[in-house]
Amino acid sequence: MDHFLYRDGALFAEDVPVAEIAAQVGTPFYVYSTATLARHFRLFDEALEGMPHLVCYAMKAASNQAILKTLAGLGAGMDVVSGGEYARAVAAGVPGDRIVFSGVGKTRDEMRRALSGGIRQFNVESEPEMAVLNAVALELGTVAPITVRVNPDVDAKTHAKIATGKSENKFGIPISRAREVYALAASLPGLKVIGIDVHIGSQLTELAPFRLAYEKVGELAEQLRADGHDIQRLDLGGGLGIPYTRSNEAPPLPTEYGALIKDTLGHLGCEIEIEPGRLVAGNAGLMVSRVIYVKSGEDREFLILDGAMNDLIRPAMYEAYHDIIPVTEPDAGVEQTPYDIVGPVCESGDTFAKGRMMPPVKTGDLVAFRSAGAYGAVMSSEYNTRPLIPEILVHGHQFAVIRARPSFDEMINRDTIPEWL
Ligand code: LLP
Repeated sequence: MDHFLYRDGALFAEDVPVAEIAAQVGTPFYVYSTATLARHFRLFDEALEGMPHLVCYAMKAASNQAILKTLAGLGAGMDVVSGGEYARAVAAGVPGDRIVFSGVGKTRDEMRRALSGGIRQFNVESEPEMAVLNAVALELGTVAPITVRVNPDVDAKTHAKIATGKSENKFGIPISRAREVYALAASLPGLKVIGIDVHIGSQLTELAPFRLAYEKVGELAEQLRADGHDIQRLDLGGGLGIPYTRSNEAPPLPTEYGALIKDTLGHLGCEIEIEPGRLVAGNAGLMVSRVIYVKSGEDREFLILDGAMNDLIRPAMYEAYHDIIPVTEPDAGVEQTPYDIVGPVCESGDTFAKGRMMPPVKTGDLVAFRSAGAYGAVMSSEYNTRPLIPEILVHGHQFAVIRARPSFDEMINRDTIPEWL
């Protein structure tokens, strides 16, 4: 459920008409709903009730400071994967003991920054990383709390580009080698082993792969405890999927996911961390765009929008489906017509949808891409020297620009000219 609904024929973001935002800030833009963000965070928090837990929002999904502050205010921890994301978490007021650091290629600088600023744990992904983190911690005269990310060799049954839990993926250490890697970690004085980490992929629409992975993690936890390791915390990653279409079957709910965690791992008495990104932010955001032209091709109609692949890359990159709806509600029973929906960028990959059935649309109309809150703005670029589009946050009747559109001069002036030119 989200808070983007038609009222009296117009699409609203909570209590604000989307067309009013468009009139004030211009198009295209992203708009997020505070109520939806909060609701989704709380669903996870409540799903884990009864177990000690922390929901660490995977900020890679949407990392605007206002979004982070909204979630941090509700008690969220943060999952970060770069020095920049760590700095964002700190800037949003998240205390170090609520920040976990994931990622397969952490640099010394990133480790130093997090160890100095405070960190809940590093999720370590390889032996070389372990050696470097040990050295950096000793240099700083501290001890780094760690989990080891294990790769359980489980098929997440999702798009190949976002599956991470198979042995051919670059992530984690093979679970079959976990005991020797934990023995190594325990021998390093700059590290303190506190738990196990796993993340098998994103946009999972079934619970079965989670069950397989978590059962393996549960068995490993018992083995590691028997080996003498103090396993107190399990970081179970993110990955629960969202409905991108209104017609397809809904993915499992956070409550069902929470029940699965209790069922597979509750007996261990560990503190549970999860790292949801998409389910928190995905359906809390729209990308709103205006139709520049309706162009007739030989055998099809093209809807040319002012938004493009640089603003929302998911369709071009993952063949992702986003529902695209008119901002003015179509009359009931209006006949739909097929459109190829494209942006102005100069390549054919700049296609959002082919043969998409929509109510008839004309030049100047506004359309909204649903489920665009996660992996939308954060993956945008200035390709074709198109400015990064603004982000807007709605809260009840209020809305605010939380990232402004840069001017052409601001973009151009980031370049510098060498003295020989
Ligand atoms: N934890 C780790 C270690 C991750 O790598 C990820 C996502 C998450 C948590 C959050 O997963 P989520 O709950 O959002 O599924 N750009 C792609 C998605 C990439 C996901 C990368 N890792 C897309 O647009 O579909």
